[in-house]
Amino acid sequence: MEQKDIEQTLVLIKPDALKNSLTGYVLSQLSEFHTGLRFAGAKIVHVSTMLASEHYAEHRGKFFFPSLLEYIQGKLHYPNDPWRRRVVAIVYQGPKAISKVREISGPTDPHVARDTRPGCIRSLGTIEQVKDAEGKVLGNRMDNLIHASANPGDAEREIKLWFRPADVPPAMHPYPTATSSEHFYFRDGKLFADYAPGRICVVAPGDLTWKTDLDVLQSILKGEKSALTVEAVVAKYLINEQAEGV
Ligand code: CDP
Ligand code: MG
Repeated sequence: MEQKDIEQTLVLIKPDALKNSLTGYVLSQLSEFHTGLRFAGAKIVHVSTMLASEHYAEHRGKFFFPSLLEYIQGKLHYPNDPWRRRVVAIVYQGPKAISKVREISGPTDPHVARDTRPGCIRSLGTIEQVKDAEGKVLGNRMDNLIHASANPGDAEREIKLWFRPADVPPAMHPYPTATSSEHFYFRDGKLFADYAPGRICVVAPGDLTWKTDLDVLQSILKGEKSALTVEAVVAKYLINEQAEGV
């Protein structure tokens, strides 16, 4: 397969889409018949604070960031039903996967989407006010039903953040993999080589990882500078392991 044919992108069907029963609609819009894209991976994810804040790391510090984390974690759409807080995470593969899915999703702002691209997925989204603890309006949050990777760099970071190699059929692996020969344990923001009560094993000998993940884990254990934070690597290994807020 040529490189251009195996381009992959991450899609998240966000909690507002699930709440409004738009999952089937979104999947139809993205179907192979419409887009020429194929599923490479799919999972239902209860989104942890760690995963949410790594996914939206570029927006840290912005006024809408705390609200965005609550939104993607389903806390706003399912305040009383924590067990319903999920997103559907999908990897799509095929020619121009990234730009095709962005195109069908439409502009970030649902009002702009309605005005300029009627019929796109995000034209069905809503704008909600973001308030501080005292009730003062800080600005707007955009509940826009779908996340789609914006460019090849984001797609790589995001696919590796949400999916392990074993979540994707081997012939569809988009990035190099490596098999670990060591144990890596995680607790309270720190990485360890040995087990102690309360430490969670994130990678064991024989586990298949993205090669870049293994490089980062090894660097962190050695106390060297690493390309990513420990959270950016371990968040995926903790997916659906802990139920936050249930
Ligand atoms: O999702 P996209 O890449 O189009 O937009 P972004 O600028 O990377 O922002 C990520 C997400 O944050 C958006 O999809 C919105 O849900 C939310 N957002 C917001 O609520 N208010 C903003 N002013 C900007 C983004
Ligand atoms: Mg973005």
